[in-house]
Amino acid sequence: MEEKEISQAVIGRLPRYYRYLGELKMSGVDRISSRELSKLMHVTASQIRQDFNNFGGFGQQGYGYNVGFLYEEIGKILGLDNDHNMILIGAGHLGQALINYMNFRNRGFFFRGAFDVNPDLWGKEAGGVKIYPCDDEKMKKFIADEKIDIAVLCIPKTQAPAIAGKLVSYGIRGIWNFAHVDLPVPDDVQVENVHLSDSLMKLSYNLRRHTSETAKNGKKSEDWDRNL
Ligand code: NAI
Repeated sequence: MEEKEISQAVIGRLPRYYRYLGELKMSGVDRISSRELSKLMHVTASQIRQDFNNFGGFGQQGYGYNVGFLYEEIGKILGLDNDHNMILIGAGHLGQALINYMNFRNRGFFFRGAFDVNPDLWGKEAGGVKIYPCDDEKMKKFIADEKIDIAVLCIPKTQAPAIAGKLVSYGIRGIWNFAHVDLPVPDDVQVENVHLSDSLMKLSYNLRRHTSETAKNGKKSEDWDRNL
């Protein structure tokens, strides 16, 4: 399939389609119309059609979408048809929570090792992989030997830019960055920043907006429930 430039907004919606389609596939659903999918996902059918049109449609008039095919195609677009080997940098609270989350494996993301500066952690295991000292040569060799393409940064923000620079020089091309700092990396390196507090602030905004709308027009959530 020929790929054109897709907006980040569409890319941002693909994982959600992928999740829903995966669940439909698991429960034995073979095909679905954009209308049914729209009802399930609480997005408009035209939004779904527009999003899928970015990739050539996938649907057939009068048939809807083939769930298995669509799931696989979106998986390919998201690069999930290849496994990804990852290392964790910083095996503290957050790092260990991530490495112990088994579900990443089901999506083809595998932690192969963890690195930390804390000697108390060296030699221990987290999520079934070893925690190593942050020795430059060891890290470089590990990245090459294990064909690591993604580094997950769970270290203090003061440390993150320097470590990211090293990782890039060792061949890392994808960084999942949890440190609250922007990382200066070359254009061919992809960084995905994750800030849980951004999501929480979005929730706070929506709560505030909803509260003021409710105060204005008196619509309560029980009204919405009854409309389902
Ligand atoms: P933590 O203190 O439990 O763990 C940090 C770990 O990094 C420690 O094990 C420490 O020894 C290690 N470390 C420090 N410098 C290092 C270096 N140069 N190389 C390798 N390892 C190093 O902290 P926690 O709670 O796990 O948070 C980790 C980072 O993630 C912090 O920057 C925190 O602000 C951030 N964070 C981000 C969130 C987000 O939504 N993006 C949510 C929670 C935390």
